[in-house]
Amino acid sequence: MLADELAPKLGSSRISILATDLSKAMVARARAGIYSQFEIQRGLPTRFLQKYFQPDGLTWRIDSRLTERIEFRTANLLEDFGQFGLFDVIFCRNLLIYFDEARKKDILHRLSRSLAPDGYVFLGAAETVIGINQDLQPHAVAKALYVLKDSEEAQQQNRYQVPFVATR
Ligand SMILES: C[S@@+](CC[C@H](N)C(=O)[O-])C[C@H]1O[C@@H](n2cnc3c(N)ncnc32)[C@H](O)[C@@H]1O
Repeated sequence: MLADELAPKLGSSRISILATDLSKAMVARARAGIYSQFEIQRGLPTRFLQKYFQPDGLTWRIDSRLTERIEFRTANLLEDFGQFGLFDVIFCRNLLIYFDEARKKDILHRLSRSLAPDGYVFLGAAETVIGINQDLQPHAVAKALYVLKDSEEAQQQNRYQVPFVATR
């Protein structure tokens, strides 16, 4: 949805989106684009619901034009994911809660190595890197949003509004 909303600003930039989960069932569900009433009420702006979703019985189905542009695959984030390359934005929401501190540290370190110098990491609202990761720092404008600490590009980004956090 963000990529679609930002399309006019991004111009001819090629965007690739990789969506992963450990669970085959979750990946299949994401690929199918079916969301429960509860899920679409967790902060989705009404105008996005109207623009991108169709009711389907008791559930909601997302516009297939959005899912068609996403590569879905299973992956275990406890294993090396460096082969996926560098990302401009990483959403890793509500996953770290599953792990002990050593594993959180390991995942966050490897996530930060997979982030472009001016990239962003989104964690869940109740998650933080504070005390467990030295590579990332909170962004000035949004909770649960992080940028690289020692990157010149990230320092620049931290001074300004995030261009894409305008969902309401
Ligand atoms: C609480 S859900 C969060 C889903 C979504 N990000 C959200 O915020 O609604 C956590 C997800 O992490 C996945 N997961 C658990 N362990 C994992 C691992 N080692 N590697 C990748 N995904 C994992 C689970 O299968 C589950 O779908």
